[in-house]
Amino acid sequence: MQITYYGHSCFLAEAGGKKLLFDPFISPNELAKQIDINNIEADYILLSHGHADHVADAATIAKRTGATIIAAYEVAMWFAAKGIEKYHPMNTGGKWNFDFGTVKCVNAAHSSSLPDGSYGGNPMGFVITAGTESFYYSGDTALTLDMQLVPLYKDVSFAVLPIGDNFTMDVADAVEAAKMIKCNKVLGVHYDTFGFIKIDKAAAIAAFAKNNITLLLPEIGETINL
Ligand code: NI
Ligand code: MN
Repeated sequence: MQITYYGHSCFLAEAGGKKLLFDPFISPNELAKQIDINNIEADYILLSHGHADHVADAATIAKRTGATIIAAYEVAMWFAAKGIEKYHPMNTGGKWNFDFGTVKCVNAAHSSSLPDGSYGGNPMGFVITAGTESFYYSGDTALTLDMQLVPLYKDVSFAVLPIGDNFTMDVADAVEAAKMIKCNKVLGVHYDTFGFIKIDKAAAIAAFAKNNITLLLPEIGETINL
């Protein structure tokens, strides 16, 4: 599966012949100045929760591309009220078959409010299946035993996990998460963007490697095959 990293927790997955954009926070990201959101194509925009560092560019990109926003009910309705016509509301525990594959919404231990303070419902992670490939994006979350459920649903080939600490799991917790998920390939996100979440990348890669897990930290704008 082709994955393009756009900084913070934003990435584009090309799955099931469609472009799935996750948690777009690009134009306000000082580290992603070289990325022009007008060049990003998307068929779907998946939002793990309502925080600004996950939804900042969602409306702009959805309006230009006609992408469908997939998010918790409260987040989806907030975008609907802003004039987004294509949206699919979901909630934790639910799954839906889309034209690219299946989205299963799973627990995330975090909070969720929209940029204007509106209630955002529950934060979520996603288990995505497209054809024979599956992956897990946890969204912002603490390490939680709920992650043990992921391998019961799907044998995921990689996981996208926050590693920046302070607001989410740190590296050590993300290593434990990968073990629970039974996954030896992790795309690390939610680090370095702000002062609170700066990490030592080499130390992070080494901590995962010690547990026979590959931590991938692509450059912003880089496309990798997973
Ligand atoms: Ni958050
Ligand atoms: Mn966040």
